[in-house]
Amino acid sequence: MNQSVVLLGAQWGDEGKAKIIDHLAESASFVVRFQGGNNAGHTIVVQNQKTVLHLIPSGILHKNTINLIGNGVVFDMEVFLKEKNSLEEKGIDVSPARLMISEIVHVITPYHRLLDLARERVKTKIGTTGRGIGPTYGDKAMRLGIRIGEFRDRKKVFERYRACYEDKIRQLNELGEDKIPGLEESFENSLQQFSKLKAHLVDSSRILNYALREKKKVLFEGAQGTLLDIDYGTYPYVTSSNTLAAFAACGTGVGPRHLEYILGLTKAYTTRVGAGPFPTECLPGASDETAGKWMAEKGNEFGSTTGRARRCGWLDLVALKRAVELNSVTGLALSKMDVLSGLETIKLATAYEIGSKKTQDFPNFNLEEAKPVYEDLSGWGDLRGAKKESELSKEAKNFIHRIEEFTDVKVAMISTGPERDEMIIRDTIF
Ligand code: GDP
Ligand code: IMO
Ligand code: MG
Repeated sequence: MNQSVVLLGAQWGDEGKAKIIDHLAESASFVVRFQGGNNAGHTIVVQNQKTVLHLIPSGILHKNTINLIGNGVVFDMEVFLKEKNSLEEKGIDVSPARLMISEIVHVITPYHRLLDLARERVKTKIGTTGRGIGPTYGDKAMRLGIRIGEFRDRKKVFERYRACYEDKIRQLNELGEDKIPGLEESFENSLQQFSKLKAHLVDSSRILNYALREKKKVLFEGAQGTLLDIDYGTYPYVTSSNTLAAFAACGTGVGPRHLEYILGLTKAYTTRVGAGPFPTECLPGASDETAGKWMAEKGNEFGSTTGRARRCGWLDLVALKRAVELNSVTGLALSKMDVLSGLETIKLATAYEIGSKKTQDFPNFNLEEAKPVYEDLSGWGDLRGAKKESELSKEAKNFIHRIEEFTDVKVAMISTGPERDEMIIRDTIF
């Protein structure tokens, strides 16, 4: 059994992380977000009741967990207050005793949001979520960012706010954006929001190190996925944070020795929202178009943040193996096998052809030139809601075995539906 588990997406996000976190949170004292912001859309389903979280960690539905937003997150005060409110309305305890925010998270201002949207309109076309994530991380690196605890000192923070504002205004003007809220109004707004949430602020590093000394169990909740990592993802079609397991340490203020079990989560197929290369995508007009539509429909593949249709394709073992290496994955979790139930043939990409070369190495450049080499496996029947391995058919077991063989990592958990208890546990890790 482990004291800490890091759960991360091994693909391009939306692997079903929140469901796994919610499942594991039962045994956790702390659930901690360490990067990203409200670009995330994390869905939990309990007895048919759906909760979608963007900023608040996915342990919040378990009353014995403390949920902490670590310093590596970029933080939108307005979104936090709304999300907190809607949970409160459902009768969930969101008091500062169990919902904490690092006092050094960087704040997303309305100007960061506007800039994100304006850049997408005019320049970048990454297909961002438009939540101001990139500009806020950009300002953090430029030393122009505002750490939330700075709002405790009205006078001082106004100067920082103004410097950030002036810089954004220049860029927004250049991009032809003219509907820009005034400095005073927006600052007062932020101050008001701050006063409503300041009781939640803590030093996340101190809290977590103390908890770990006390042998409390900590669950680190990744957002986005490995292939959206700003260093190792499909740059520039990535998010603006490091999504890899190692960042769970930097993004919360614990040392890397405390990251014990790294759980990498993959769907039984692949999805991607936004632009960028995707070798195993089932494209319209191609022979596997029907399979792609099947995944989209049965898997209900629409973004939980922006509602955009997710692009769908086969599971890519070359990319998964890369994710295993980049994160030093201890064990894998596999989700959404139930979605593929009924398909006659299931494809797995086990190599790429790039030009005249065949390779099993995931490239750092020109992924759009990679043509997947597939292995065909036999499909399986209905397995929705299975809780024991013995309920799986030979074909389903064979699929799992092939993933393990290729990646050299065991599949420790299999999710067989969106509900909390639709899960096969092969290794108790927490
Ligand atoms: P996250 O961002 O990784 O937390 O994933 P999302 O919440 O964006 O998307 C995952 C979607 O799949 C959600 O609607 C979940 O309720 C659903 N889901 C998670 N695991 C499973 C599963 O094993 N089978 C099915 N059918 N749905 C699942
Ligand atoms: P969860 O945590 C899927 C994608 C966006 C876009 C790129 C950059 O729910 O898995 P950003 O707004 O971050 O600057 O957008 O990253 N993206 C996600 N895709 N799941 C997510 O989060 C995502 N968060 C960002 O679609 O392509
Ligand atoms: Mg999501």
